[in-house]
Amino acid sequence: MQIDRRHFIASLGGATAVSLMSHEAKAEALEAYMIQQLNPPVVAGRKFPKAADVEAQIETRFYRRGVGNLFLTTAEGAKVKKLAPMPANPTLVDFFKLRFTNTANHCFQSARVAMKNKMSDEVVLACLLHDTIQEIMKSDHGYWGAQMYEPYVPAKTSFAIRYHQALRFFEDKDHGYVYPDLYRNIFGEDYVPLPHMQADYKMLKNHKWYLEPRMVTVNDLYAFEPGVTLSIEPFLDVIGRHFKQPKEGLGNDNSPVAHMWRTIAMPDNPL
Ligand SMILES: [Fe+2]
Ligand SMILES: [Fe+2]
Repeated sequence: MQIDRRHFIASLGGATAVSLMSHEAKAEALEAYMIQQLNPPVVAGRKFPKAADVEAQIETRFYRRGVGNLFLTTAEGAKVKKLAPMPANPTLVDFFKLRFTNTANHCFQSARVAMKNKMSDEVVLACLLHDTIQEIMKSDHGYWGAQMYEPYVPAKTSFAIRYHQALRFFEDKDHGYVYPDLYRNIFGEDYVPLPHMQADYKMLKNHKWYLEPRMVTVNDLYAFEPGVTLSIEPFLDVIGRHFKQPKEGLGNDNSPVAHMWRTIAMPDNPL
């Protein structure tokens, strides 16, 4: 992708502001900028694309938008990088440090908001994990993510991860969730959520755990702060209390989802 340096620097508040940013913060900001440029409003004079405009973009890309971050780089001319090897018995923290590099900071930001607002451990953990599955799969990511985490986390946490995806499409101003402009850009302003998400929304409205996924969507809204790079340290306690780390390591424990962890660990394996 062609980067307009001056426009990028201006978007960060000018050269002085950029000089004060850490190396990681600059890298994060550049990535956010590129993502934004990849999803520009398609029709001149209109703020948001229509769903039909979004569909028309499909054949302008060399990749499908549902693919996980680990499998490609969308920066024009760039190549994917060699990944650091995983330890023999990898833990969740190892995955955060070595494989969740595209999603970790957004998830840390979201979990930090949840902690600040004194939400339950289950919700903080759900926020911490909610989009990490996007390293291998973006399409229907709430359902994939819940499945991958289900054997290791409390039931409320996987419930919140599963249904945050559907609830992102449905506004709930009473609980502080407004429909995000990000989605008007990604899906088109007239996009209609798919039938399975409508059905899940209908089910969730009367569910006793409605607020768990709803709080993930609320904290999601405040988790795209550019230039704020967080680490996993503040969340080690909640992971220690609630994440059932298998002693053989994630991917080696013969669980029904072990292959998902192995795929994240070894995305270069051709088969
Ligand atoms: Fe998500
Ligand atoms: Fe998110």
